[in-house]
Amino acid sequence: MTLVRFHKADGTLDVEVDAKPGQRLLDVAWAAGQPLEGACEGVMACSTCHVIVDPADFDRLPPASEEEEDLLDIAAHVRRTSRLACQILLTEDLQSLSVRVPPGARNWMGR
Ligand code: FES
Repeated sequence: MTLVRFHKADGTLDVEVDAKPGQRLLDVAWAAGQPLEGACEGVMACSTCHVIVDPADFDRLPPASEEEEDLLDIAAHVRRTSRLACQILLTEDLQSLSVRVPPGARNWMGR
C-alpha cells in the first residue's frame, strides 16, 4: 500500500488515502475527489492531470518520459517536480507519496 497525500494549491493537506500497487495516481486522485480533469484519460494528449510532487518523493519516482516532459512544458504553474498523474504508477516499494494540485485545477468532467 502507498499512503497518498493530496495537498491543495496553497500547500495545506486535503486528504490522505491508501492506494494499491499498480494503480495510476490519476485514478487515485479521482477516487479521492481531487480536482484533476485528466481530459485524455491518460493517453498523454493533455496536461490536465498535472500535479506537483513533493521533492523528496519526486526523486524516488522513475523519470518522466520525453513525451511527458513535452506536455509539462505547456502546463500552467509547472515546477521542477511537476509530473502527470496519469503517468505515475504506484509500486510496492513506494510507501508514501505527497503531491500538490496546482492552482486553478478543475475537474470539469466531474470524474
Ligand atoms: Fe491527459 Fe494525463 S490525463 S496527460
